Amino acid sequence: MSRQTIIVIDGPAGAGKSTVAKGLAKKLGLAFMDTGAMYRALTLKALRQKINLEDEAALVLLAQGAEIDLVNEPGRPLKVFLDGEDVSEAIRSLEVTNNTFYIARTPGVRHVMVDLQRRMGEKQPLVGDGRDLGTVVFPQAAFKFYLDADFKVRCQRRIDELKAKGEGVDEEALSKDLAERDRKDFTRKVGPLKKADDAIVIDSTRMSIDEVIETLARHITAKK
Ligand code: DC
Repeated sequence: MSRQTIIVIDGPAGAGKSTVAKGLAKKLGLAFMDTGAMYRALTLKALRQKINLEDEAALVLLAQGAEIDLVNEPGRPLKVFLDGEDVSEAIRSLEVTNNTFYIARTPGVRHVMVDLQRRMGEKQPLVGDGRDLGTVVFPQAAFKFYLDADFKVRCQRRIDELKAKGEGVDEEALSKDLAERDRKDFTRKVGPLKKADDAIVIDSTRMSIDEVIETLARHITAKK
């Protein structure tokens, strides 16, 4: 794989992007770039500093001053560092999940994040997952995938994930939250969730994670 090989997977929440991107990166021996984790880390920082999430200028300053690192170690889950602290767990809280849209909708913040993501891509070949990777961050990516799944299946996957972690689930609230996240992702003025014209669409509704990874790997091998 050449230094410049960038593989991107965009799609809505709950379609399985992160798990697939992680698995594909492992299979191909590439780094994994979880861009959602980067927006989450910044949200955590804003919440901790009690910054007004409607204050665009403050959020941009915060983004410019934040040090966000993704650390890939062979055989271990991706670690997310914020200003030197491991926040891999903290960024998965409901509070962070529910507030990330403030960060993600702010154009100046996206600018900083997109820059950082591009620099990561210049350093190493990688598999990235997000919303705008094929359209904005890496329009020249060697391989672009758009991973989708029916809304009900995406909800069920989230429910199963939370249950597996031993967390209580309010299924109706979760379904409403996911619908709201979809709406915000699709309608954001900057970097909305959008399929790139040249992306390969994979509908994972009736597929296992392994089947999706295999399908993506086949596309990649066929084109190489
Ligand atoms: O993939 P995720 O659920 O961890 O993403 C968290 C949030 O970040 C979600 O609200 C969408 C946003 N996001 C984004 O705006 N652009 C990206 N490239 C990745 C995530």
